[in-house]
Amino acid sequence: PARKRSSYDMITLTTWLLKQEQEGVIDNEMTIVLSSISTACKQIASLVQRAPISNLTGVQGATNVQGEDQKKLDVISNEVFSNCLRWSGRTGVIASEEEDVPVAVEESYSGNYIVVFDPLDGSSNIDAAVSTGSIFGIYSPSDECHIGDDVQLDEVTQMCIVNVCQPGSNLLAAGYCMYSSSVIFVLTIGTGVYVFTLDPMYGEFVLTQEKVQIPKSGKIYSFNEGNYALWDDKLKKYMDSLKEPGTSGKPYSARYIGSLVGDFHRTMLYGGIYGYPSDQKSKNGKLRLLYECAPMSFIAEQAGGKGSDGHQRVLDIMPTEVHQRVPLYVGSVEEVEKVEKFLSSE
Ligand code: AHG
Ligand code: MN
Ligand code: MN
Ligand code: MN
Repeated sequence: PARKRSSYDMITLTTWLLKQEQEGVIDNEMTIVLSSISTACKQIASLVQRAPISNLTGVQGATNVQGEDQKKLDVISNEVFSNCLRWSGRTGVIASEEEDVPVAVEESYSGNYIVVFDPLDGSSNIDAAVSTGSIFGIYSPSDECHIGDDVQLDEVTQMCIVNVCQPGSNLLAAGYCMYSSSVIFVLTIGTGVYVFTLDPMYGEFVLTQEKVQIPKSGKIYSFNEGNYALWDDKLKKYMDSLKEPGTSGKPYSARYIGSLVGDFHRTMLYGGIYGYPSDQKSKNGKLRLLYECAPMSFIAEQAGGKGSDGHQRVLDIMPTEVHQRVPLYVGSVEEVEKVEKFLSSE
């Protein structure tokens, strides 16, 4: 039987990363970038958990490029994430939900990774202490330009946009940190999905699950049904079908946390589907391709699940702008294929 590990001989994220480097799965620079991201997540976890004490709930009083009222913690998490990546010295360009345009990192002196991130996901939950998260994806530099050349921007910004506008299929690594009853760091470097739990006793992420497999099906659906009236008729038919007891005699259960990271993590472990469809108001849905849909779809596929925009694989979508939105259906293979079937029916 597997040796029961006490919490002091469990594998820490640091040890696990060094092992991947030793085995040549990742290089030294990637090891350092991932370690700096985990440090940013630990700092954000402590800021989130003490938000009401340190007067960090509520709004910043500014709106971001998405047109959203930024929370104070949106702004601070963005600074924490950006600084940790800068000081890693191995990051070339960063793109964030909270930055209008991608930013070149002058401090990089070896390795030149491109990091896209959502520093605080589900930030509408923060004032009620409901789960939030951070999401990230890592690319190699790229010079293949797919963006319209009518974009009137300076040379450096143009280069940065070219570097971040890569299809999710180019992702080298992706992950998220969920700030919930436990602080959970989930990571894939292309060899399956690994789960680490923060042990507050000594401030390290310890390996608690390896090679996670999403159940092939699951009777949990996670959509904001407040938008039902605005949905396409085919989607309404799909949604209605989940409520019929069917042969099993039991309909699906609805679970919606309002944080992609929380809803995705439950979907990955329990099975089912999370969706943020397009609707009459938002033609491309709400979630952003670069730092929400693509990283989560990469993780889903690495766990044997699927990530679709309703018609195609999210990882095949070629981004044309940094903050572009796409509809997202992600989770158990059978559940994602079921909604795709409804959406493509005559
Ligand atoms: P963010 O807080 O980074 O802007 O993302 C919020 C997203 C996602 O986390 C969540 O699933 C979704 O918005 C919730 O949107 P609704 O409130 O419209 O359901
Ligand atoms: Mn936001
Ligand atoms: Mn988000
Ligand atoms: Mn966010």
